[in-house]
Amino acid sequence: MHNIVQEIAAPVAEEMLTFKEMFRENLMSPEELLKDVTKYLSEGEGKQLRPLVVLLSAKIHGEVCKSTYIAATAIEMVHTATLIHDDVVDNSNERRGLPTVHIEWGPQVAVLVGDYLLSKALHLTTINSEFELLKLVTQAVQQMSEGELVQLAKAETLNTTEEEYLNIIYKKTASFLAACTSTGTRSVGMDDTHVALMTEVGKNIGMAFQIRDDIFDYEINNLAGKPVGNDIKEHKLTLPLIAALRQTDDKTKQRILKLLANHSNENSTVEEIIKFVRHNGGIEYSVNRMQQYCEKAVEILSQYPESPARRALIQMAYYTGTRKS
Ligand code: IPE
Ligand code: IPE
Ligand code: MG
Ligand code: MG
Repeated sequence: MHNIVQEIAAPVAEEMLTFKEMFRENLMSPEELLKDVTKYLSEGEGKQLRPLVVLLSAKIHGEVCKSTYIAATAIEMVHTATLIHDDVVDNSNERRGLPTVHIEWGPQVAVLVGDYLLSKALHLTTINSEFELLKLVTQAVQQMSEGELVQLAKAETLNTTEEEYLNIIYKKTASFLAACTSTGTRSVGMDDTHVALMTEVGKNIGMAFQIRDDIFDYEINNLAGKPVGNDIKEHKLTLPLIAALRQTDDKTKQRILKLLANHSNENSTVEEIIKFVRHNGGIEYSVNRMQQYCEKAVEILSQYPESPARRALIQMAYYTGTRKS
């Protein structure tokens, strides 16, 4: 299923195996209930793109080392925790092709398991005295929560502009991807100049990544393993809808916003809004915008001398914009 990801991972194939082992070890807990949930989490393990980005960001500068693995592991644990919480926030019933944790065990368990994984990740970082990693990761998680909160507030008012949307996705996704590239770079002892450059790479990949994710919501039969139309049901105005609303006349705009405000839970509304977005250039506009971010990441990476890791990161930037899951 993730063939392209495997191809991108080729320069760090061995290192990915070491990461996977460390990740699984750190997920484990002696508690029976946690055992069930962590078993479930290892069965549907996701694409593991963030640890891959950490490893490649180290490899482009030097050799992956213990600090790199700690960064990769802590980051994937934080990511897993935030997805479990996000599915509660978004009322979403499917993730990675499986029922979400709160559907399977209830929201109480989802909140607590998310907290457990988050604190475990921070503990792993602390006991290894990786304080810069701790700083970068906690900063990113803080921004992520801010982004999620702004998005939630905006779902009430239904008036998100493109600029506000870009700020939300920067906070909730791009800042975390920036933490992946910067911690990977720092883990092999690189200076601030390199870290700053790679932070930009991560930000741009992250922006593209979230726009792609938001397009999935408008793709019937996509392979993302998540429900279609959930953003609509949750009143989230993402780029495809923002762009389509900008294209249309006032009367249609008011009609669509009314539908969203009063009938967003009805399947017929979701279908109508998806159709509206597709017919009013919402997808094309978003794809274009997304490609600009991918190109920007590639442009920065092109300043590096040619190497398998550079090639893989460039491939990652393109994959971000073309991925099917
Ligand atoms: C999903 O991330 C959350 C977003 C930021 C859009 P991924 O698509 O990387 O999720 P998994 O880990 O592969 O399931
Ligand atoms: C994912 O955001 C979670 C964070 C970035 C914190 P979304 O809610 O947009 O992503 P999916 O579609 O559920 O994976
Ligand atoms: Mg969300
Ligand atoms: Mg969600």
